[in-house]
Amino acid sequence: MNLLVTGGAGFIGANFVYSQRQQHPQDRIVILDALTYAGNLSTLDALSTDPAVRFVRGDICDAALVAALLRDEHIDAIVHFAAESHVDRSILGPMDFVRTNVVGTATLLEAARAAKIARFLHVSTDEVYGSLEPNDPAFSETHPIQPRSPYSASKAASDHLVLSYFHTYGFPVLLTRCSNNYGPYQFPEKLIPLMVLNAFANQPLPVYGDGMNVRDWIHVSDHCAGLDAVLRRGRIGEVYNLGGMAERPNLDIVRAILALTGRDESLIRYVTDRPGHDRRYAIDCSKAMNELGWTPRVSLEQGLRDTVRWYRENEAWWQRIRSGEYRTWFERNYAARLDTGSGSPAATAKHSGASCA
Ligand code: NAD
Ligand code: DAU
Repeated sequence: MNLLVTGGAGFIGANFVYSQRQQHPQDRIVILDALTYAGNLSTLDALSTDPAVRFVRGDICDAALVAALLRDEHIDAIVHFAAESHVDRSILGPMDFVRTNVVGTATLLEAARAAKIARFLHVSTDEVYGSLEPNDPAFSETHPIQPRSPYSASKAASDHLVLSYFHTYGFPVLLTRCSNNYGPYQFPEKLIPLMVLNAFANQPLPVYGDGMNVRDWIHVSDHCAGLDAVLRRGRIGEVYNLGGMAERPNLDIVRAILALTGRDESLIRYVTDRPGHDRRYAIDCSKAMNELGWTPRVSLEQGLRDTVRWYRENEAWWQRIRSGEYRTWFERNYAARLDTGSGSPAATAKHSGASCA
């Protein structure tokens, strides 16, 4: 199979590419990523000499670029991760979210339909279901779509577009909705890596509100395994929830990180709550488990231990982010090699800039 992975220089996309190379070495992968603040090419460095992986820096809103890639690379399937993904940023500036998550997804869908792509897997989130009360049952795939932040509203809009292409055109879509991921290569604006790095540095850990908002946590490797199962065995037109079956209040996560890093609770700072802060997410992923034989395998306790160890052992990776140096990684390490015509699999396509929005 020739796969197009959008957003493959981000947290989950990169983990997915690594896991695909392990599990399906016969497949080719083209990564399309605009390298926004959240995209980090150094994450993919171990693949820079892999002839089965090509990196293209480009925008999913660039219809001409996407059409050319689908045609020239003989793409069979798309796994669509590219998005603006951080809720707090969506509150500060919703328009980037509308542009990439809604217009970008629509642009991809149009190009993919024209190119008659065989499978289009849209990677979405449990946040589209809204917020639960403490005793509500977990979200099932038939739960009403009730997004409450600009991020989740933009993802919900993209979900509706994706499903509309199935119902209207018979276009072969698959849709997953997953809970909170954690693990290697996560950008340190999200709860777990932010708290880990602040604890390492003995800096305050900012807890929003009363710290009792509940999330379901899944190790990114389990999410990637679920995506692989849906991509290869999922039924066209279906939605599959994926989750870690590990609901915890934020304070429990923060305290566990303090214990794993050998710090005490004096580092906790209660700060002003996130506007519209969803109280609880919980996800029923029995459909994916029963139909696809997938199950999350990494316990939260083990996954947190491994993640803290990963950040401890990969300081160079996150120091480049904290210093801002990662933003120039691409130019220094990849563009130059290309200019020599050395045949590096990492390649830039002409980046024609935003053609939508
Ligand atoms: P991320 O922010 O780490 O990475 C997003 C990637 O998309 C970056 O590499 C960025 O450069 C790229 N990108 C952004 N705009 C682009 C554009 N216009 N064109 C091309 N590339 C662009 O995100 P993540 O946490 O890896 O999430 C990936 C996907 O999974 C998102 O769609 C998100 O909604 C979904 N998701 C995330 C979680 C989670 O807990 N992180 C849970 C469920 C679903
Ligand atoms: O549920 C899936 C979603 O999980 C994904 O779709 C999103 O892309 C991803 O960002 C994540 O959204 P959350 O808003 O749940 O994740 P975040 O890491 O930003 O916050 C997790 C919880 O921790 C949330 O209740 C807010 C709280 N929090 C977060 C930060 C960054 C704090 O208390 N302090 C913080 O500094």
